[in-house]
Amino acid sequence: MPFQTEGTVIKNERIQSLYFLLGIDCPPIANQIKPGQFVMLKVSDDRAPLLRRPFSVYQSCPDHYPEKTNRGCLFILYKIVGKGTRKMTALEKGQKVNLIGPLGNGFTLPPLPSSASNILVGGGVGIASLHSLAEILRDTNLFVFIGGRTREDILCVEDFKKCTSAIFIATEDGSLGVKGTVVDLFLTQRRKFKGSSRPYLYTCGPMAMFQRLSKSFNAKKFICQASLETRMGCGFGACWGCVVKTNHPQTPYQRVCEEGPVFYLENILWE
Ligand SMILES: Cc1cc2nc3c(=O)[nH]c(=O)nc-3n(C[C@H](O)[C@H](O)[C@H](O)COP(=O)(O)OP(=O)(O)OC[C@H]3O[C@@H](n4cnc5c(N)ncnc54)[C@H](O)[C@@H]3O)c2cc1C
Ligand code: FES
Repeated sequence: MPFQTEGTVIKNERIQSLYFLLGIDCPPIANQIKPGQFVMLKVSDDRAPLLRRPFSVYQSCPDHYPEKTNRGCLFILYKIVGKGTRKMTALEKGQKVNLIGPLGNGFTLPPLPSSASNILVGGGVGIASLHSLAEILRDTNLFVFIGGRTREDILCVEDFKKCTSAIFIATEDGSLGVKGTVVDLFLTQRRKFKGSSRPYLYTCGPMAMFQRLSKSFNAKKFICQASLETRMGCGFGACWGCVVKTNHPQTPYQRVCEEGPVFYLENILWE
């Protein structure tokens, strides 16, 4: 069950260009949140912005976290895109923040230990919701595809390297890795994953990326889950401001905050 609670900022640092990492000491949420779930954060004490903003948890360190540092803390990787995220950059160490979580349904994991290939495809800040998954899947056959418009949008590669050596990078301007989109790069490599067990594909990024993915290969050959990022009002199912159209026979419009944010890609209908 999600709940509202307070946490204490432990760090809020620019990692590169428009991207920041916010650390919050908040054991109640750090102990419960699963990869793909999210929190609604009150980004400042001011009246504006009134609405909380949704964020995935880049890393959560529960009480039994194998590394002893930062236990009870969670980390949010965020990009400045507007007034709320700009205000977030002013949060300081020691400041209290209010958050609601854990919200939504996270990724379904393969049965572990897993012999299947696990493939993560992240575009831009979308890799934020995939990192905690990579940590859980680190002892499996794990492949990580990271993409962005330029090298400035390629984030946290060193953290992913702690989970796997199979990392593939693409930038649209060719300034780092292969030139092109991360979907193009994945498509050139997908034959690697032909095998006896159906590979798991986990993805997060802009809507156009999911659309491209779902149209460009037979998604049924993969167990393909996508974490969607729509604009949200409440974050807990009340306002219906976040719906996407699906092939669900009874309720085609599903709430990203409640039924998602993770959906099977084959169930999403693109208009
Ligand atoms: C489940 C979920 C998890 C998310 N996780 C992360 C995360 O880990 N890191 C991160 O940086 N961002 C994440 N986001 C997106 C983040 O919530 C938005 O960037 C943030 O709310 C923008 O607030 P703002 O006030 O700065 O922007 P606003 O001033 O509200 O908007 C500025 C611009 O950004 C666009 N925009 C705002 N929100 C979204 C959105 N959700 N999707 C697409 N475009 C948007 C607006 O259309 C507008 O053009 C997530 C969103 C969801 C739904
Ligand atoms: S954001 Fe209100 S129902 Fe999803």
